[in-house]
Amino acid sequence: MVLRERDVSDQDLDRRKFIARSTALATAIVPIGVLARWEGQAGSGMPQEDWVGAARAQIPATSESVYFQTGGIGPSSLHAMAEVTEKLEFQNRGPADPTYAATMSRIEPDLRAYLASMFGVDANGVALTHSTSEGISIAAWSLNWAAGDEVVISNQEHPANVMPWYVLRDRFGIEIREINLDAGTSLLDEARNALSPRTRMVSISHVSRNNGRRIRTDESAALGELLRSRGIVYHLDGAQGPGCVDVDFGELGCDCYSTCGHKWLLGPKGTGAFFVRSEALDTLQLSWAGSHSHAAMDYDGSYSLLPSAARYEFGTRALADFAGFHTAVSWMEELGFDRVLTRVQDLGTHAVDAAETRPDFRLASPRAEEDRSGVFVLRLPSGCDATHVYNRLAGERRILSSPVRREGDLRLAIHFFNTEDEIDAALDGIAAVC
Ligand SMILES: Cc1ncc(COP(=O)(O)O)c(C=O)c1O
Repeated sequence: MVLRERDVSDQDLDRRKFIARSTALATAIVPIGVLARWEGQAGSGMPQEDWVGAARAQIPATSESVYFQTGGIGPSSLHAMAEVTEKLEFQNRGPADPTYAATMSRIEPDLRAYLASMFGVDANGVALTHSTSEGISIAAWSLNWAAGDEVVISNQEHPANVMPWYVLRDRFGIEIREINLDAGTSLLDEARNALSPRTRMVSISHVSRNNGRRIRTDESAALGELLRSRGIVYHLDGAQGPGCVDVDFGELGCDCYSTCGHKWLLGPKGTGAFFVRSEALDTLQLSWAGSHSHAAMDYDGSYSLLPSAARYEFGTRALADFAGFHTAVSWMEELGFDRVLTRVQDLGTHAVDAAETRPDFRLASPRAEEDRSGVFVLRLPSGCDATHVYNRLAGERRILSSPVRREGDLRLAIHFFNTEDEIDAALDGIAAVC
């Protein structure tokens, strides 16, 4: 279809009206950029809370409840929501119409490049997925497993990093070894003891959803070196990584890393990314392929895969959601990742100190700052049931927390938009219920 110049400009005009309509719901959106400018003023006496207050005003969930469930699913900002709405409406003016399709077709390459630059990944090392679980499965199914092959996971994993291994165990006879990543154990010692000549992959959480332990970058790099010397694939489950702790994929030294947009990055639900080292692209083979995985193919049996991690993608994609994912990360960048992560750590320190003043509470999370993250997990007094506490806090006080794997452990996922008062209110609430 060939468009005349006049058609295009009319459509552009319509599009602008369209955007104005679709963003009317978000009239209170503070333009991206304004919050960043406040950063400069923060040093000149503006209280830290002010940029947080302004950011909270962009996150409706923060006025609905005391939101400590980012580790489960993060709340989006008005910016991200408006972007999804706009792109969805824009696309549906003519999904196959080149006028619209051309703009939409930039969304994925732009997002891949942006995530690569933000998280220390090679330019060709990002695949866009719909969840962390999708990335984990890409990794888990990437080898030709044989009976007796071994994978090493930990005792702190989410079901998403357990289920694929159970299925591989039952289908191919692989063995699952579990290391102990409770607070205070040595990752390297644990891993060394678990490795055998049959180990083919190590897959553990960068930040555990069960105890909040973060694998430090230096220990991860050391583990990566050890595993590479033995030809073992190293995968990190980073569902709780980007936006919660500093992530530089290159420095972590793993071969691949699965993450999502819908937790700490505050992006749309059903967005994710899988990062791969260029050298590992051919080791991590495709188990799922389809239209878009290939650079070239014919119907006589020949094909070549894309020379990038985009080969792991296939089929029709949720482009509007990916556009919202890009906006969500841009917004965090505008807020300042350093400032966000520093505040997450500072709030964590407050939570640790406040918990330690209460004799009945213990920490399941590590105490040392370098091992901690925004995932803060309390060990409740004995006899106090975490699910019961979760229900009471949610029902009576609108405080959203989460029970985790170990009975009696309760998680507060503390993001930058939370406050010390909210943490104190949660601890008071927990103490009252227990
Ligand atoms: C450590 C960890 N891995 C994986 C997942 C699954 O994430 P997703 O819903 O993005 O697949 C979660 C979700 O809470 C998680 O905490």
